[in-house]
Amino acid sequence: MNLLHLDSSILGGNSVSRTLSAAAAARLRETVPGLHEVYRDLAAHPLPHLSGAYLAAAQSTEGEHEPGLAADLALGSQVMEEFLAADIVLIGVALYNFTISTQLKAWIDRILVAGKTFRYTATGPEGLVGNKRVILTIARGGFYGPDAPAAPFEHAETYLRAVFGFLGVSKPEVIVAEGIATGPEQRERALAEALAQIAALPAS
Ligand SMILES: Cc1cc2nc3c(=O)[nH]c(=O)nc-3n(C[C@H](O)[C@H](O)[C@H](O)COP(=O)(O)O)c2cc1C
Repeated sequence: MNLLHLDSSILGGNSVSRTLSAAAAARLRETVPGLHEVYRDLAAHPLPHLSGAYLAAAQSTEGEHEPGLAADLALGSQVMEEFLAADIVLIGVALYNFTISTQLKAWIDRILVAGKTFRYTATGPEGLVGNKRVILTIARGGFYGPDAPAAPFEHAETYLRAVFGFLGVSKPEVIVAEGIATGPEQRERALAEALAQIAALPAS
């Protein structure tokens, strides 16, 4: 089984989503036989934003590119190959300004590619990677549950559910620690509850 583990928080050692994704990776190591891991830290090694030159070159069969573009194309191919090869995709997700980090968005821009991870059909778009298991460990400063006044402002979990649903993964496993910024007690409580859910993650 191939695990692709991504982190996207900019808060390094203070990151809650990194703590949770590390715990989830440890849980998978314990429970999934023969786990092969690939780790990518999207904050430490940010992917460049998509450019018009990249898109044009990626869609063309021309061989020669200037070194910067050639390196970008190689990186894009590597990111796509890592994603396609993964049986399990685990992502540490931080809520920043009501959505995912720009670093995670840059990764999503590399993996939503028509003909590779989804395709257009006469009846609409169709996801091509629905056989993957996706686990999201999300940290957010405030409260965004269904009854929270701020619920309509949450565009990280909802966005990622839409993205992976579009790719065919209709039921990602989502573990949330929220209220992190509202005080140390709530931070500890939310972390403990999320870690308990992670400790119960099934093998498949
Ligand atoms: C730049 C920045 C923007 C943030 N924006 C929000 C926000 O819009 N809503 C919220 O509830 N918390 C917000 N927070 C708090 C984070 O969601 C919280 O610190 C969470 O733990 C982030 O995940 P991380 O610890 O893995 O980085 C923000 C934090 C930072 C640093």
